Amino acid sequence: MGRRSSIGIFDSGIGGLAVVNTISRVLEHESLVYVADSKNFPYGTKTKNQITQFSERIARFLLKKDVKAIIVACNTVSSIAMPFLKEISYPIPVFGMIQSGAILAVKTTKNKKVGVISTPLTAASHAYKSEIQKLDDSIEVFEIGSQKMVNLVENGNKTRERAYELVEGKLQSMLSAKVDTLVLGCTHFPFLDKVVKSVVREGVKVVDPADELVLKLEEFLRAGSLINKSSGANTRMFFTTGMTEEFLIKAKLFLDIFPKEVHKLDV
Ligand code: DGL
Repeated sequence: MGRRSSIGIFDSGIGGLAVVNTISRVLEHESLVYVADSKNFPYGTKTKNQITQFSERIARFLLKKDVKAIIVACNTVSSIAMPFLKEISYPIPVFGMIQSGAILAVKTTKNKKVGVISTPLTAASHAYKSEIQKLDDSIEVFEIGSQKMVNLVENGNKTRERAYELVEGKLQSMLSAKVDTLVLGCTHFPFLDKVVKSVVREGVKVVDPADELVLKLEEFLRAGSLINKSSGANTRMFFTTGMTEEFLIKAKLFLDIFPKEVHKLDV
């Protein structure tokens, strides 16, 4: 493991590509290995045991690729399996979304009312509520899950009218509760951020945990002198456990830098 090693990133599908976009903007010379567990999508309706099993297989695959860090670019996995993934990956660090989202929420809210929109499983785990209240127990947290919003993005719809109706319906209770901060607690949702921003009233800040996560990742890499500074030497590899052609089409739709190819992964 060294400067030139890759950063491993995974999600159930295309959601983690939003995290890839953020990492590529800030740490532009890093090599990345991305895994989409498309065969097992959606994670948001699975059991905790299934999520743990799926994420273990992927983490072990990434560790074989000699990664210098693993990014769990999935809030659902982050809300359930972090201690386990950290344990099996040690000494390679594992970064999840929840802690970053919580830090960002606490930094952003003024009226101490925070909304979190996520998968039903993340909402039911109350991982955001507990992480946010660990930092500031006077903050009220409103958690809502929507699998339909995830599916909408995974199927390639970014801004359609259907998305507006769906998001508007889902966010009503939070808006009535007068949250001033809304956490996009699922990595698929930054791809709906235009729709979300048009639904929330002015004054509500929409925050993406990836913006904080990338700072923590950068800090870790800098502290260990692990930042890849040589331009042009980086690679980006994409794997899916599902159909490669289908994933390539979606990746071209959602990634800022188009991937050349997608490899099939059997884990
Ligand atoms: N993108 C994932 C998340 O952040 C999972 C979505 C799903 O597969 O249901 O939770």
